[in-house]
Amino acid sequence: MFRFLLVFVIVTTAAVIHADDEPFALDKEAAEKISYRGDVWPILKRHCWGCHSGGDTKGGLNVDTVADMLKGGDGGTLFEAGKPDQSLLLEAIIGDEPEMPQKQPPLSAAKIQILRQWIFAGAKDDSTPGDVERAVHIPDTYRFAPAVTSVAFSPDGRLLAAACRSEAVLIDLAGEQSPKRLPTESDLLSHVEFSSDGKLLATIGGSPANYGEVRFFNLADGAVVSSRRVGHDTLFRASFAPDNKAIAAGGADGAAHVIPVDPKAEVRSFDLHSDWVMDVAYTVDGKMLVTGGRDKAIKVCSVETGELLRSVDGSTELISSVAADGQFAIGAGKASIPISYELTIALKGVEVSGAGNGARPISTRAQYAKNFETQPGEILDLATSGDRKLVAIAGAYGDVRIYKMADRQRIALIGNVPAPIYSVALNADGTRLAIGSKKGEVQIYELPAGKLVKSLVPVPVAPPAEAVTAQ
Ligand code: HEC
Repeated sequence: MFRFLLVFVIVTTAAVIHADDEPFALDKEAAEKISYRGDVWPILKRHCWGCHSGGDTKGGLNVDTVADMLKGGDGGTLFEAGKPDQSLLLEAIIGDEPEMPQKQPPLSAAKIQILRQWIFAGAKDDSTPGDVERAVHIPDTYRFAPAVTSVAFSPDGRLLAAACRSEAVLIDLAGEQSPKRLPTESDLLSHVEFSSDGKLLATIGGSPANYGEVRFFNLADGAVVSSRRVGHDTLFRASFAPDNKAIAAGGADGAAHVIPVDPKAEVRSFDLHSDWVMDVAYTVDGKMLVTGGRDKAIKVCSVETGELLRSVDGSTELISSVAADGQFAIGAGKASIPISYELTIALKGVEVSGAGNGARPISTRAQYAKNFETQPGEILDLATSGDRKLVAIAGAYGDVRIYKMADRQRIALIGNVPAPIYSVALNADGTRLAIGSKKGEVQIYELPAGKLVKSLVPVPVAPPAEAVTAQ
């Protein structure tokens, strides 16, 4: 619809924005003082850049640099120097049918005036080459180890991936190769995961109130296979589709997003929750998604249609993590009690068994929901082994517990871990456990014995120089 509007704009631009009626007159002297880098770029970065930069730019428009804007998108150049009120840029923001920024609050009059004045004064570009800003800053060495927000074992168990702020670090567990650092454009990564064929590593995260980001790295050479921005807020935990063609991630917009590896294939978004979707898990057959949210609900939907099949539970507290095997879904969070849901019964809906006086509804919650043992505090993450026989559960407290999925029996308890633990992972056959802590450490344990086999900080950390010389 916007595109039709553009055709209209081109023939009628002069009449569309009534410069004389504007409360803010254009003022040459004030306009000359406006800096692209200092004044204009922060506005574009805050309000436009999330959708008009990166791999998948909306309307073909990229606002990274002045040159990009002059080039424009599908509708041609964004402006001509000196003529703000005949520009597509201002038309999109304050024209007769302003559409930008899409789905977000309009720009303040003061910000609009900065854009107008800057174009009026000649749209000068005062940025220097070094300015061409990266979305995030990744230090060579950190002063403090960043929290490890996600960990994952490669399917063959040789590599461990750790999410450390904006980068994923690939650690060779045999110690033969030095860690490989994979930068992203997420302020904070929330999830890392290997594809089950061992070819890809996916990183999920984003920039709060700005965009969600997904990247797929080729493990053979560390190259980015594809990357894209999704939505206008950060993405949370995710799950690779069993066919490795897409990853499903929870969004702050209440949707689960199925994001294909192929950058040309479309993202599908399923609106399921009334609040953040904290985690998503595919069932083993890849046909259903289990989602858990800040709205305290656990839901099951069809991957093919996106249709909600069942709200399996209303918990009393937010759900931070979910997992699934062929038979059960598990959800856990602030309430400290992980609950296992038998999917086939839960999905049957209310049916009636027996006849006459013996008729009974089946699939009431009590029939499909079974509690695990209560954990000592808030649960922050849970993860299944590759064969989905075991589940590890960790959180804000000092131990990690491992259970069998089938009967919820505990097989191991590892004490004295550096709480809080933000992330856990099990390897393919459940013989290794990895935990990532808020303090920035990764520890690996042998199961079921619980012996610590490795402890490391994934990123280089060096104290500030003066602290070293002072000793
Ligand atoms: C939430 C995402 C989003 C944000 C934020 C956003 N846009 Fe857009 N923009 C779009 C989409 C989607 C289109 C394509 C719409 C269409 O073709 O109908 C688009 C198209 C445009 C176009 C037309 C491009 C062309 O040449 O066809 C302009 C101009 C534009 N946006 C400017 C802006 C400006 C300026 C801002 C910031 C003030 C902004 N947008 C913020 C999503 C966004």
